[in-house]
Amino acid sequence: MAGYESHEYDVLVIGAGGAGLRAAIEASARGLRTALVSKSLLGKAHTVMAEGGIAAAMGNVYTEDNWQVHFRDTMRGGKMLNNWRMAQLHAQEAPDRVRELEEWGALFDRTDDGRILQRDFGGHRYARLAHVGDRTGLEMIRTLQQHAVHRGLDVYQEFTVNRLFKDGDRIAGAVGYWRESGELVAFSAKAIVLATGGLGKIWAITSNSWEGTGDGHALAMYAGADMIDMEFVQFHPTGMVWPPSVRGILVTEGVRGDGGTLRNASGERFMFNYVPPMFAAETADSEAEADRWYTDRTARRTPDLLPSDEVARAINSEVRAGRGSPHGGVFLDIASRRDADYIQRRLPSMYHQFKELAGVDITREPMEVGPTCHYAMGGVRVDAETGATTVPGLFAAGEVAGGMHGSNRLGGNSLSDLVVFGRRAGVGAADYAEGVEAMPTLDASAVNERAELVTAPFESDGKENPYAVHEALRDLMQVNVGIIRTESDMQVALSGIHELKARAAAVKVEGGAQYNPGWHLALDLEHMLNVAEAVTTAAIERQESRGGHTRDDFPGPSPEFAKVNVVVRRSEDDGAITATQEPLPQMPAELQRLFEED
Ligand code: FUM
Repeated sequence: MAGYESHEYDVLVIGAGGAGLRAAIEASARGLRTALVSKSLLGKAHTVMAEGGIAAAMGNVYTEDNWQVHFRDTMRGGKMLNNWRMAQLHAQEAPDRVRELEEWGALFDRTDDGRILQRDFGGHRYARLAHVGDRTGLEMIRTLQQHAVHRGLDVYQEFTVNRLFKDGDRIAGAVGYWRESGELVAFSAKAIVLATGGLGKIWAITSNSWEGTGDGHALAMYAGADMIDMEFVQFHPTGMVWPPSVRGILVTEGVRGDGGTLRNASGERFMFNYVPPMFAAETADSEAEADRWYTDRTARRTPDLLPSDEVARAINSEVRAGRGSPHGGVFLDIASRRDADYIQRRLPSMYHQFKELAGVDITREPMEVGPTCHYAMGGVRVDAETGATTVPGLFAAGEVAGGMHGSNRLGGNSLSDLVVFGRRAGVGAADYAEGVEAMPTLDASAVNERAELVTAPFESDGKENPYAVHEALRDLMQVNVGIIRTESDMQVALSGIHELKARAAAVKVEGGAQYNPGWHLALDLEHMLNVAEAVTTAAIERQESRGGHTRDDFPGPSPEFAKVNVVVRRSEDDGAITATQEPLPQMPAELQRLFEED
């Protein structure tokens, strides 16, 4: 490609979190020319924000656990909207992926007899999360990175992909830029794996770091891929709420898994008031029974460990009813149940996080916590076995892929999702690439046109500031497409997004292309606005409440929507984003039987 740095690969993996690393390991192990692109420095993926553990039915703590129970928990947590085959593969393969991580050097916490220790998390019937204190995602990334970099793959760090290109219907490559120099690079590739993670930076309060701008969701939509379940955005129940500079930073569910309880301003354990019928039989209905559960598993489990959508909604309701903590959250207390030594050993990051950032000693005082936008259940529609999207040659895995978690993800299921489906997408992309004889053709004029658009904000006559447009979008989505939604609020969001698109087109960036974060944000804005529109359009279409999508105007689930995915598509001609309803894949009878007691 004349005029640009250019490269050819069999498999190009975009995103270097758990899913991207695992996919790249698989493709490079096959001897294919493989590249791994990381928007930030290696090691700084949202994967590290899955702190409390990786869910896998290994049965190390409760021998009764098995893949069927994990599958059932996952489907119930997702309110039965999950792609059943993904949930099945995930539950079946997660234990092997954990053992593989251990073989590759991950140092999990141990049981007294030396096996991998597993902790409790919301919605999981048994203690199932293999963990490394409260730094599990970090350890996973460290392990996968060390394993990947010895495989001879090329790594592009601090590099952002801006567009995918097709040759006819199939994928042909991508264009991106070095964040340091601003110089453009064109990649020809037989297969591309999207593993770009999530989109939390579209909301004002989020656990996501600056990279979470929905890039992969947008790239897939621009390439014409089907998107599913975009209406389901997970607000993790517990983020920090104070001081304002750290609002949204994650407080791991491991705190509740290890004994932390939620209380409102009156000291009431309010979660007893929010147990939905689906979970009533298995949830304790008195404080005494809930407390007993920590040492006696014949008791029913504490409602503090209901699935995260239930807990986030409950906290939101308490705060709205005026029963919140001084800074607009609720209290999370582990000091009353566990001693300082236990807390510092099991939750070292939480201890330091609160001590350093909020001046709170969690071994003595409760934390103030509230919901924070954490995870996208929705994403690119993929084939469960291979990660193939509806665009030939394009694969997706991890948070950017939809289907696995249905309407609500159980904590800990993301880390296992990353390695189960990262591996599968790596195999799928490698198989596909091996079947492609000639490198597809990158259309030089399309690449040149993109290069001009990418640098356009420098030449613009407009007066808009990218940071101001981004802040307006985040506030708009937080207020109108947050935990509780209505048609009228979402229509406000939709027209606001269209106005912001016009403002984004008038963004002017000062300075040059070298290390210019304002320019990078200006380019990410296009992605965020399109993804925000996709989420809002899907959320308007789903006229019911289910999982991570709660509508005040349609309270409760509706049978009409119980068996459909909302599918979002973006027109390649005029960019129009539309939503339709399509039936869920039918679960086979032998799996349906697992739910008969429900
Ligand atoms: O609470 C947590 O540690 C988050 C886990 C997850 O996102 O899976």
